[in-house]
Amino acid sequence: MCGIIGYVGNDNAAKIILDGLKMLQYRGYDSAGIAFHSGQNVEIYKCVGKIEDLEETLGNKGDVFSCGFGHTRWATHGSVRQPNAHPHFFGKVTLVHNGIIENYKDLIDKYDLKDRLQTTCDSEVAAALLDIFYSGDPFEAIRKLLEEIRGTYAFVVMFEDIEDTMYAFRKVSPIVACSHEDERLLASDLMPISLMTDEYFILPEDTVLEMNRKGITLYDADHNEVRPEYRKIDWKADQYDKKGYPFFMEKEISEQPEAIRKTIEHRITDGLPDLSKDGLDEDFVRDIDSIEIIACGTSYHAGLAAKVIFEKYAGIKTNVSLASEFIYSGNIFSKRPLFLSISQSGETIDTIEAVEKAKKAGYPAIGIINVKDSSLSRICDVSLYTDAGPEIAVASTKAYTCQLSLMYLLAFYIGLVKGKVGRDEARSLIRELQKLPEKVQEVIDRKDEFHLLSKRFLDHKDLFLIGRGPDYLALLEGTLKIKEITYIHAEAYASGELKHGPIALIETGMPVIALMTQDELMLKESSNVKETRARGAKVLVIIKESLLPHLGQKVDTILIKDYHDDFILFVAVVILQILAYYIAIDKGLDVDKPRNLAKVVTVE
Ligand code: F6R
Repeated sequence: MCGIIGYVGNDNAAKIILDGLKMLQYRGYDSAGIAFHSGQNVEIYKCVGKIEDLEETLGNKGDVFSCGFGHTRWATHGSVRQPNAHPHFFGKVTLVHNGIIENYKDLIDKYDLKDRLQTTCDSEVAAALLDIFYSGDPFEAIRKLLEEIRGTYAFVVMFEDIEDTMYAFRKVSPIVACSHEDERLLASDLMPISLMTDEYFILPEDTVLEMNRKGITLYDADHNEVRPEYRKIDWKADQYDKKGYPFFMEKEISEQPEAIRKTIEHRITDGLPDLSKDGLDEDFVRDIDSIEIIACGTSYHAGLAAKVIFEKYAGIKTNVSLASEFIYSGNIFSKRPLFLSISQSGETIDTIEAVEKAKKAGYPAIGIINVKDSSLSRICDVSLYTDAGPEIAVASTKAYTCQLSLMYLLAFYIGLVKGKVGRDEARSLIRELQKLPEKVQEVIDRKDEFHLLSKRFLDHKDLFLIGRGPDYLALLEGTLKIKEITYIHAEAYASGELKHGPIALIETGMPVIALMTQDELMLKESSNVKETRARGAKVLVIIKESLLPHLGQKVDTILIKDYHDDFILFVAVVILQILAYYIAIDKGLDVDKPRNLAKVVTVE
């Protein structure tokens, strides 16, 4: 899950490639590299670290080149060290690669490469094979390589003896490209492209792209020219700017009220959900008899929370699957399921593969997606875009609240179409939803209070979070935030499950966060807190104000103002985001780029 960008033109290639790599850094940031064609040969610069480190390594040495490509890496094969960074080279071939070559070990044996390789990377094997197959015809070499390799990939290749030209080909992993006046650009996603032009095309699988000063040409396997299918971009990537915040994550947490407002308001007409501008009509959902939600990570947690609302207000049985597990599932569905995938990036490979599987079986698919024109949106029948704007911090925050608020709207919409909710009830639910931005803002305004409380967790390695029903679902998302940015081992437990095993782990001084927002569940949740305290746990209770008198014990609390029980989960999640953020800040960690992670997971 790496980022690739390639440029040929009259401008300073180094600057364009480095700027593009910064935009692609969300795909991986453990090492980076760049290669230029000098006319005579190919020069490579690479280092461990972020794009800023590469910039420093390169200095102004790249300013003279006008053809080159760059790569930002998230290690799959081969550890994080300089030689393993891309570009890789072998003989006359230099390449960058995103993806995995599954059979690279077999290929090492088959072509007796063991003693000729400098790294343990599958990508270097591809470079070696291309060099072996190359005798002046790049297409023939690529054709032979494609016969040998198995896996998913996006490759961009330069040959030392072919000046100012690069070749690209791919399977599953994306490559998009554009030509604008005298400039050509290709990249892993549209963000760098959008800065150059609003017209682009997706490199089709089974074709090879040739890009040089003359233009971009596509060829199929028989070397026939293929006409690229141009598409329009109707947005422009924002230049990334923290707007005065120390980290993107804090900025993105703070943007949630506005992002939710933007996501829902234009989809409400006369107080009712209106998804017509998204291309969703009543016929699409009228006959569905189940919803199959597919997502990963935070998006999966949004799916779990949405399930409750789909079942309650749309009256539809809803299953939620981790996309990576769905692929191996038994495939027993109702007669007319609707597949609903959720993804901030729209590039998560597991989610894409799961939706492809559903589409192949002939089922309709809706995507709740943040990034416009992403790969997932291209395979869904309808894309409902969240209006969160670019989410740069690796830990997802505003994407979650926007995905979930959009799914609430969708649930009310389906409920109306199916006659499960009346118009008056739907209007009153929408009014509650419209209060969300204000409710979320209220807790964001209290961030200093949460910062102080977060300090109690700083020296702990483990943290338990307990709750029932929607509280448990909010905690699942909270624990993911805590794990990924603070490196504290945090686990959410459905309180009722504690006695079935996990309570054995509670010992004196163990920090526990309990969440209590639901009238119905309060008494049971309160006794679960007592059970953990009786075993020495130090509990912080996040509780809805009106429930406080029923808590029946003296513990530290965070109070949440009263709000509809079906909507209060949003507020709880934002509190947990803020707690996680401040723990990470006080530990001095890189909040936006936590270790071992990448913003987009494009490998299985
Ligand atoms: C956690 C996080 C990840 C993503 C997951 C799915 O903060 O960001 O768990 O939610 O990788 O990504 P998308 O939503 O892009 O499919």
